[in-house]
Amino acid sequence: MANRVCEILGIEYPIIQGAMAWTSMAPLVAAVSENGGLGVLGSGFMPKEIILQQVEIVRSMTKKPFAANLFLDPGPQLEVGVSAIIEGKVPVAYIDSLNLLDLDMATEYYKRLHDAGCKVIAKINYLEDAIVAEKAGADVIIAKGVEGGGHCTKVSGRVLLSEVVEHVSIPVVASGGIATARQAAAVTVAGAEGVEMGTAFMASEECPVHPNVKEAVVHAIDRDIVACGASTGEPSWQVRNKLADEMLEIEATHTKAEAADMIREISQGSLRIASLEGEVKEKGAVLAGPVAGLIHEIRPVKTWIVDFTEEWKEWLKKSYTLF
Ligand SMILES: Cc1cc2nc3c(=O)[nH]c(=O)nc-3n(C[C@H](O)[C@H](O)[C@H](O)COP(=O)(O)O)c2cc1C
Repeated sequence: MANRVCEILGIEYPIIQGAMAWTSMAPLVAAVSENGGLGVLGSGFMPKEIILQQVEIVRSMTKKPFAANLFLDPGPQLEVGVSAIIEGKVPVAYIDSLNLLDLDMATEYYKRLHDAGCKVIAKINYLEDAIVAEKAGADVIIAKGVEGGGHCTKVSGRVLLSEVVEHVSIPVVASGGIATARQAAAVTVAGAEGVEMGTAFMASEECPVHPNVKEAVVHAIDRDIVACGASTGEPSWQVRNKLADEMLEIEATHTKAEAADMIREISQGSLRIASLEGEVKEKGAVLAGPVAGLIHEIRPVKTWIVDFTEEWKEWLKKSYTLF
């Protein structure tokens, strides 16, 4: 039986590389798509001209489908993302949101993207949003659990996936905390028709972040990953270092409002300091999910897609009996 995620997105393997701001840039996106998965530009916060430049670079590296990220939240960045995706003729719009989805708004923007020939992936963190996304016309849902890298949400991936597959009929891709083929087999049994991985692709050879960032991911164990920035309303998973410890200390000893201001100040530019300059011990922020504990080496993208799928199929062939 054909895989619906592959059919809809025009890809060979049901593996999506999660959008990662200023991390999933053209070289990673093109490598994932060229190897048969879906590469996704981390374009959610980029100015339009940079998105269009990145789209052109991806196109020069692969003829296969890829996606670009936008956030469906009110504000000027929304129009930047939508218009760049339409003008750049990006085949797939990968839509996250920081707030709960509004049905009218989702319907309007999905239609605009569909009319321009784009497929729409809705990345959701709550069952309610999955139901709204399907009603609004999304083609594929990514259900991302709290353990997923980037912004940490609230619902566990295992609970969310099981809830969502019982309530929607469009295909659902499992996301958050996945880095092994055995886990991919487990979520397949739980109803997922594909997997999304972010942190794993961050540690790939083709990811254009500083090597120190990849080393920090590979060397982190599960309890090295901490959630920082709850006071700002947008907590993110980070590899523990001096900056993360300072952020946690501020949050433990100040009111929420005071902490939010202080955290914004000390974390300004911290992603850039780590990703570009490779300073990962003091002032730089390495945003990686707890799944870093399962990632032990920097590998070529191809192995995360082709070898991963072979192993995934092997796990699915094994039969288990408990009784
Ligand atoms: C460094 C980093 C940056 C991220 N930035 C974004 C982003 O800009 N937009 C978005 O929708 N998701 C973002 N995410 C989340 C990923 O797209 C993906 O959903 C998540 O990494 C999956 O969980 P995993 O890391 O456990 O595989 C980011 C994740 C990481 C690790």
